Amino acid sequence: MWCVGLPNLILETEKILLYQQQLGEWDNLNHLIICKTTNQACIIDPFDGKFWLDFCQEQKVEITEIWLTHTHWDHIKGVEELYCATDNQPILRCHILEQQRGYESTRAHWWNHHPLSSVTERFGAIEFAIHCTPGHSPGHVTIIGQGIIITGDCLFLYSCGRTDLFGGDQEHQRQSVVYLKDIFRTTPIDSLILPGHQYEREDGSIPTTLKLDVFLMGNLAIQSAHDIALWNNLPFLSFDDNMAEQARRQKAQQS
Ligand SMILES: [Fe+2]
Repeated sequence: MWCVGLPNLILETEKILLYQQQLGEWDNLNHLIICKTTNQACIIDPFDGKFWLDFCQEQKVEITEIWLTHTHWDHIKGVEELYCATDNQPILRCHILEQQRGYESTRAHWWNHHPLSSVTERFGAIEFAIHCTPGHSPGHVTIIGQGIIITGDCLFLYSCGRTDLFGGDQEHQRQSVVYLKDIFRTTPIDSLILPGHQYEREDGSIPTTLKLDVFLMGNLAIQSAHDIALWNNLPFLSFDDNMAEQARRQKAQQS
């Protein structure tokens, strides 16, 4: 069982409050954005619905939106709990390409823009760019705006997400990383990178966010994405484990 405290206030600006909390045994990082103008909140990839409901009740804000970077179980586990416990049910948004990995939801409002492009999404009085960045999963999105970059499992702080799960694609992931690297050229350099998981580094540190300029200097996936040979040799794109074996079986059944 994991220990849960109060979420960390990572950023406060004129318009938003941004909270982050590690939840669950898979080191998932959940993010809550509060619009200070309207007191509405958007939860990204909720692992534990009750945790966020309790916190928002305490803060006197209402969760009106649930956005999913992708639909792996550890990023959607808290969604049903959020629905069942609220009278005014929040709007669930994710990308329609997640259906390719078998995700279905009667609740979902689907983003349906092309890979490597973006749409604007709003809640409260603020807006974000939703970039479709497939590779870790077929409809993965990266959320950028208001001084934050929520990368889900597309990019971690020093690496990127694996591509050997069902619906993943190593080359698509490379193209998404090249695409984001280009987007980052026009993104404020002090923006905060907020990944979907926290992983321990070799030196024992476990950072949960980095400023964009520091991130760009240290991320191996970003540095390798323009060189296909380098990219294909990255050690974190695939693993010899049960999840990879399950993905191979699902792919065989589909073909
Ligand atoms: Fe994932």
